[in-house]
Amino acid sequence: MFRLDGKVALITGAAGEIGSAVARLFRSQGASLALVDVNQQGVLALAEELSEAAMACQADVSTAGGCRRAVDAAVERFQRLDVLVNNAGICPRIPFLKSTEEDWDRIVAVNQKSMYFCSQAAAPHLRRTKGRIISVASYAGRAGAAANASIYSGTKGAIIAMTKAIARELAPDVTVNAVAPGAIDSAMVNVLAPDRLQALLQTIPLQRLGTVDEVAKAILFLATEGSYMTGATIDANGGWMML
Ligand SMILES: NC(=O)c1ccc[n+]([C@@H]2O[C@H](COP(=O)([O-])OP(=O)(O)OC[C@H]3O[C@@H](n4cnc5c(N)ncnc54)[C@H](O)[C@@H]3O)[C@@H](O)[C@H]2O)c1
Repeated sequence: MFRLDGKVALITGAAGEIGSAVARLFRSQGASLALVDVNQQGVLALAEELSEAAMACQADVSTAGGCRRAVDAAVERFQRLDVLVNNAGICPRIPFLKSTEEDWDRIVAVNQKSMYFCSQAAAPHLRRTKGRIISVASYAGRAGAAANASIYSGTKGAIIAMTKAIARELAPDVTVNAVAPGAIDSAMVNVLAPDRLQALLQTIPLQRLGTVDEVAKAILFLATEGSYMTGATIDANGGWMML
């Protein structure tokens, strides 16, 4: 169970905390990997760590062209694509009343447009392999972020809705699902002041932050055994919000 032998996965934002955890877990399960990120040094170092079964691909997935180039590079190298993980994302903390049009365009492009156009570029290849798309949404897309991330929250809600719509269009060939992490032990959450973090933990039934490995395991499930799931979003949030 949970093996990915002979499968090729493309992971966006692969140099980041959750992306690299997904890459290491997928590699341990036998996958070949296209590691995509704007951070060239980050993906090069990770590809070196994960052996010749992993290729580094520097690409900016905030444009449709960047998404296409990343998918083309992966298929050229491995001749197939089985799993797309739309993970690249940014969460600048900007108060609603101070957000600018430039902030909007940037956050929407990196978080939301990338999910849409990477999925579109990957779809013909995934149709051939009966593949999977898994996108990283967020608790914020369900409930709205607690602090200064209104645009971010909108992009994550959009990922949950687009997951359902794209799942219908790509059925029955490709399954399309999302994972919505809650507060994960990572730089994105550790920017909170200690007293705010303590207050946050008191609202989470499991009384701790999640780990990047726990998010990666939910993504692995959708990439392997979750064969009768499509259009779904799995919450990995310690019970912070129960739907
Ligand atoms: N960390 C959390 O607590 C948390 C909670 C919920 C959801 N998420 C989501 O998980 C995903 C990963 O978050 P993380 O905590 O690992 O963050 P991270 O900052 O460690 O990783 C994000 C990665 O995306 C890359 N990236 C940014 N813009 C890009 C672009 N235009 N093209 C290609 N790559 C780009 C960055 O270089 C970085 O390596 C994000 O979508 C985030 O919104 C994180």
